Amino acid sequence: MCGIIGYLGDKNAKTVLIEGLRALEYRGYDSAGLAVFDRAGEVFIRKTEGKVKDLERYSASLSAEYSSGIAHTRWATHGEATGINAHPHTSSDGRVILIHNGIIENYMPLKKKLESEGARFQSETDTEVIAELISKFYESGRLIEAVASALANVQGSYGLAVMARDMPGTIVGARNGSPLVVGIGDSCLSIASDRNALPACARRIFYLDDGELVHLGAEGYRTISLANVETTKEVEDFHREIQHSDRAGYPHYMLKEIFEQPGTIADCYRGRILPQEGLARLGGLDPLDERLHDFRRIIITACGTSWHAALVGEYLIEELAGIAVEVEYASEFRYRNPIIDAHTLVLVISQSGETADTLAALREAKMRGAAVAGIVNATGSTIAREAGCGIYVHAGLEKSVASTKAFTSQVIALFLFALRLARMTKLSSDQGIRYLAELVSLPRKIENILNRAEEIRAIAGVFRGKSNCLYLGRGIQFPVALEGALKLKEVSYIHAEGYPAAEMKHGPIALIEPDMPVVVVASRCGVYEKVISNIEEIRARRGMVIAITTEGNEGIRRHVDHVFYIPEIDEALSPILTVIPLQLLAYYIAVAKGHDPDMPRNLAKSVTVE
Ligand code: G6P
Repeated sequence: MCGIIGYLGDKNAKTVLIEGLRALEYRGYDSAGLAVFDRAGEVFIRKTEGKVKDLERYSASLSAEYSSGIAHTRWATHGEATGINAHPHTSSDGRVILIHNGIIENYMPLKKKLESEGARFQSETDTEVIAELISKFYESGRLIEAVASALANVQGSYGLAVMARDMPGTIVGARNGSPLVVGIGDSCLSIASDRNALPACARRIFYLDDGELVHLGAEGYRTISLANVETTKEVEDFHREIQHSDRAGYPHYMLKEIFEQPGTIADCYRGRILPQEGLARLGGLDPLDERLHDFRRIIITACGTSWHAALVGEYLIEELAGIAVEVEYASEFRYRNPIIDAHTLVLVISQSGETADTLAALREAKMRGAAVAGIVNATGSTIAREAGCGIYVHAGLEKSVASTKAFTSQVIALFLFALRLARMTKLSSDQGIRYLAELVSLPRKIENILNRAEEIRAIAGVFRGKSNCLYLGRGIQFPVALEGALKLKEVSYIHAEGYPAAEMKHGPIALIEPDMPVVVVASRCGVYEKVISNIEEIRARRGMVIAITTEGNEGIRRHVDHVFYIPEIDEALSPILTVIPLQLLAYYIAVAKGHDPDMPRNLAKSVTVE
């Protein structure tokens, strides 16, 4: 999704901005641009369709020293991915230069009005309208006031960084719904949509809140509300996360992150379990401690892969703790009229902690008086901060757009939470001890699967030339089937549907034709025999069955074309093992088709617009 970076300081701004854009690349984008001011105060703008490396090439002629600037990666919402629609945008008089993440909902009436007053627009974007509007209010030297006045007329979401042609040493930022973080260093000030993009000089940071503006200049920073009232910020030390940002010898981040899972899931439970007592300790939930006994109902809300983790969580919490759970798409929850009472807990799951719909769902739940908690990967993200309490999943920076290690860590966090609740109600210490023994066996078992990745690569070969497939699973494996299908769609562009195995005969069976791949997650479970019957229904129609099943299940070979074995594990934790071959399968199919799985077309890592 759109990425923002702005810089004032003694380093060459062009170099700093390009580095910042590189750090934002993983979020997904289709065009990029920058505006830099040289030491004489002249501004240069370059923008292009394509990648940051294309922008770098296109701006190679900018070889002077630049003291300030703003830069942007764009993920198209209004208007195609072209150089003209790329940011920065300028007002038609050229005085205001701006980059934007978000959507201006009332841009059409604003555009018409501004056109009737003589404005001429170059692009199809909603963003250009804000540049024009700010220019209307701009009096030299009073940029923040002009931005505040312009934004009073704007409806929608934005993270903005704005410069004025006659104020090269000033950047104004404004936030409503799209994240912005300010970095402070000894000789630099910076602003970005993601703290990982801030330059190395940023030693302290603060986050802008919705409805807040920041002025960065030679005299330091100052923040105001949209109503022009000074605000105070809590500035925190910024210890850059160990980035693990290189691919460590792997050809793609996706593969690297799949292979990190033995470590990342251990990082999620480390220090949180008491194996001798069969207990889970979750310090981040302490604020809810006294209320945990009172919850009669839990709503889990999320988007994308995090929503699939939520579905696994539903099985875990209901099975282990016996508390009713509902899982809602965050995008639906926010616009429904959800029934929430004092006994309802709303759990919000997000890898990035910035997904606009999930954030809106969290706010809706809080507004209705629900107890809320976040299950988040990105520390310091908006959802983590606004939830106020929750569980960090500690999966580390996830760079691949297609989420893999974050999913398994989310499931671990949900398992720990379910265990915590269960031990307060119906689970004995012996049962808790057994579950934890299974939990700590996971890293070794994941390694066993990863060591056999070549088997999956071989199976990937059978997808050559295929354009449709099905993923089936029952019970706790149903969300795994959904996740396997999503991964395949995301990175290989093959159409895939995830279904509960028994539902197949109510429609999807019509799709089955000779040699159509059907991936069946058939780990040994209560309904295993029924899954075999479903497999026979596919075989009767000459579909090609690829089964993921448990070691020792030799009998399944009679029923399927290809099989991959996972080690034995308690059913509650089996999704962690069954999903890994499906992640690998999607990866190898994408690579075999010549696609870059780290940058799938049209997708963004963090969807910060509705
Ligand atoms: C995007 C990403 C997905 C992710 C979803 C939810 O669609 O491409 O990988 O699962 O957003 O993101 P979140 O950061 O809230 O988990």
